[in-house]
Amino acid sequence: MTDQSALSGRIAVITGAAGDIGHAIAARFAAAGAGLALLDLDADAAGRLAQGSELPPGRSLALGCDVSDEASVERTVAAVLERFGRIDILVNNAAALTPLAPVADVPAAAWRQAIDVNLTGAFLMARACLRPMRKAGRGVVINIASQLAHVTTPGRAPYSASKAGLLSLTRSIALDHAAEGIRAVSLSPGAVMTGRLTRLIGSPDEVAAALAPGYPAGRIGRPEEVAAAALFLASDAAGFVNGSDLVMDGGYTARSVRPRASAGSARDSGCRCRRATSTGAPRTGRADRARSDTRSGGASRPAPCG
Ligand SMILES: NC(=O)c1ccc[n+]([C@@H]2O[C@H](COP(=O)([O-])OP(=O)(O)OC[C@H]3O[C@@H](n4cnc5c(N)ncnc54)[C@H](O)[C@@H]3O)[C@@H](O)[C@H]2O)c1
Repeated sequence: MTDQSALSGRIAVITGAAGDIGHAIAARFAAAGAGLALLDLDADAAGRLAQGSELPPGRSLALGCDVSDEASVERTVAAVLERFGRIDILVNNAAALTPLAPVADVPAAAWRQAIDVNLTGAFLMARACLRPMRKAGRGVVINIASQLAHVTTPGRAPYSASKAGLLSLTRSIALDHAAEGIRAVSLSPGAVMTGRLTRLIGSPDEVAAALAPGYPAGRIGRPEEVAAAALFLASDAAGFVNGSDLVMDGGYTARSVRPRASAGSARDSGCRCRRATSTGAPRTGRADRARSDTRSGGASRPAPCG
């Protein structure tokens, strides 16, 4: 078996497929022979991806889906089954990034949004896809978590809690369904060079300058690296990998550092995307952000944004 045939004949459902990481996973899975259901809140963007040159025509289906909405999930999974007749792989990749705020100031709506999309959405998708997987006696669920499931940074409570919950959901799926031939694994990337980060920080060079120094590897990750790890986890080569998490963060969480005395609040955490809004758009211009970043001080490594 080669990378080109690792997923031959399998059907993979990918949520948040229109984002950079979802796109990279879709391209990698397609190259490995999988048929794809590309789900995203942004149905048009998922449709453009399905028609792109990286994906073989006729083997991918794009559908609008809100993973946090039970009815939307059930409708969408039914449509996937109607088209393909089976689901072998689910990649829970969709995620919401909420505004940075210390816990005392987190609006309940922001907390709920992160939990609803990142955790409940993954549960709803898994529950719907586990039914056909059980019948087939095989299946793989891959939950895209984050290094922020393991560590956190000031101001990121909703996102971090939702991603930490995803690790627990992964273990539960693994234990509850291992005897039915189903595996569940999670992947925890560090910061990855994506539109999510360039929208928050600036050009790729600015993103690299802001974040790479915090990584022992001296750089942040690439979407293709996440896709390569997802391909391994989805394939039979990972047949004995179940209930575990793969951290891929260039050594970020392996390192222990002592924060400076000023660290400890979202305001001075050093996080380069502290002005993120719920839509991921910065509230102010780049000059403002740059000034504010210079003042930020805080922890002795730049806070991760993943
Ligand atoms: N980019 C990073 O640095 C980084 C680091 C670690 C982990 N991650 C994780 O990787 C995954 C993909 O990240 P990305 O950078 O490509 O993100 P992104 O924001 O570019 O893409 C996320 C996609 O999810 C979709 N989405 C949002 N809410 C949805 C909903 N309710 N239903 C369906 N789709 C919805 C969005 O439309 C978007 O296309 C996420 O789970 C993210 O938390 C990213």
